[in-house]
This record gives sequence, C-alpha cells and structure tokens, in this order.
Amino acid sequence: MTRMIVDCDPGHDDAIALILAHRHAEVVGITSVSGNAPLAATTANALMVSALLDVDTPVVRGAARPLVGEPIHAALVHGESGLGGVDRIAHERTITSDDAVGYLLDVAQPDITVVAVGPLTNLAHAIERDPTWVKRIAGISIMGGSTDVGNATRVAEFNIFADPEAAAKVFESGAEITMCGLNLTHQFQTSDALTERLRGAGTPKATFAAQIFDHLHDRMEALIGRRASAMHDPCAVLAITHPHLLETEPRAVAVELAGTLTRGMTVVDQRVSRRRDQANAKVAYGIDAERAWDVVMESLDAADPESPNAKNP
Ligand code: BDR
Ligand code: CA
Repeated sequence: MTRMIVDCDPGHDDAIALILAHRHAEVVGITSVSGNAPLAATTANALMVSALLDVDTPVVRGAARPLVGEPIHAALVHGESGLGGVDRIAHERTITSDDAVGYLLDVAQPDITVVAVGPLTNLAHAIERDPTWVKRIAGISIMGGSTDVGNATRVAEFNIFADPEAAAKVFESGAEITMCGLNLTHQFQTSDALTERLRGAGTPKATFAAQIFDHLHDRMEALIGRRASAMHDPCAVLAITHPHLLETEPRAVAVELAGTLTRGMTVVDQRVSRRRDQANAKVAYGIDAERAWDVVMESLDAADPESPNAKNP
C-alpha cells in the first residue's frame, strides 16, 4: 500500500484529503502547519479528523509562521477555526510531538511520499536542515500554485503566497515533485447534489463531509454567487493513490519572490520549444473528475451505486 505523510493546514478540503488518504494509503503521520488558520487551530483540526476516523496516526505540530514575514490565514473561506460551520467532535487526543521538521527527517523512507497541502514551511525547514532529505523520500505531491489564475492574488495561489520563500526552496530542492495547482483543482468541483448524497449516507464521516461542503457552498455563494467549490487538496492525494486519473507534464516551475504584483506566483515554463528543459516538477493539467469523485465519495461513505467503479474502490 502507498505510504505517505500528509503535511496540512486543515482547512475544509484538507480534512477531505485526510479522509481520502486514510482510505487509500498508509498514512504514516500528519504534520500541521499555519495556513488556513493559525497553527493551534490547524493542529486541533488534524487531531479532530483523526478522532473522526478513529485512527492512531501520529499528529505532529509544525511551523507557526512562514520563513519570511507574518502568517496569513484564509478566514474568509475557512472561518477563524479553519473548519467553520462544522460540528466539533469531542475527543482527548493530543499531538505526538511539536517537532514536525525532526519528524519529517527521521521518518523519511524511499517509499514514503509527502503530500503537502498547506504552505510549504515545514518542508523548507527540513530541506534547510538536511538537503539530502528529498532524496531519502519517494517525492512530494503539492497542492499549490497554478499555471494560470491565482486566488490569494490575481496570479498567486494561497499555499504558495503564504510562504513563497519556502515554496521556492522546495521547487529548487531536486525532489520528485508533482504540482496540483489551481488550473487542475478548478476542474474538480463540489455540488449540492454531492452534498445530498453525503447527507443521505448519514454516517459520521459522510455527515462531517456534508457540513464541509455546505459551509464551502455558503461561502462561495456569498463570494462568487455559485454553490460549488474547487476541492483542491484531495487532488494531491489522488496524484499518488490514483495517478491514472490525472494528466501531468514535466515542466520547469519557479516561484516569484520579488514582483510587486506577482510575489508568490508559480512561473511555469510553458514555451513549446522549452517545455521539458530543466523540468523540476510534473505539473498536473487534467483530471478525470467523474471517476475522481467516485473515489472521493466512496471514501466519504457515499459511493454512487450506479457508478461502474462503485464495487471497485
Ligand atoms: C489551498 O489553499 C487553502 O485554502 C486550501 O486548503 C488549499 O490547500 C487552495 O488555494
Ligand atoms: Ca490546505
């Protein structure tokens, strides 16, 4: 079974990514990072998801602030708690350690992929401490960046914008990188029909997921007038557990650190003549959204009985 560490800032879509990862991989550990909400909140949310799943995956607290500057959060979408609109689950779980960097370095194995779905601060610290770390793991699957539109700014995606210096270190590290940016995740949208299926399933996992979808739909309706939301972070899990569902191309990716309008942008070399030159990442461009939803909905206890994949998760 695929083995992974999920580095995350839950976060509604992070929570779905954690559920999906535990269904289709051996999740060796979860490391938390400041991002959608402050570190205390994202760590508490990671522990809460592990309680929901009743798994004993270690949760290790990571970085509270980016390499440079002040932390930024995404309360407008995720709420102050990082999981706005979701009922809290009572539990007594605690973190295993507060040294995510030490954990990432110690646990590294050639068959372990790091799925990074928050700002890349923990990973950058690990690379700073031991540049050979990236050669001791299978690779890094990132939800972050974009080949076109941004969300934190007109060209920068949130996870990269929240810590551009960290992202630059990761992209320059020599790691085997897969990048699932907004250009991809915007093709993977939730809907009220999916929420209804989750509600109908009625299990604790499905009910939790229905609350997540509902909250995101309420936020998106208020922000852009549409009850649908890109389900970003699960794409970086699928890139490892179900790679046949994604189309990727080798590309050279750099992170803009200086631009007054473009700080935090992933600059992807898409020139026809140079596309593969100095490629440092597999950039995802396409997803079989229908099949991918079958996989994700099954992990949330809401398999579509009519899907050809329903009996074949
Ligand atoms: C990314 O930013 C966060 O708000 C989401 O959890 C996702 O990881 C999308 O830009
Ligand atoms: Ca995230």
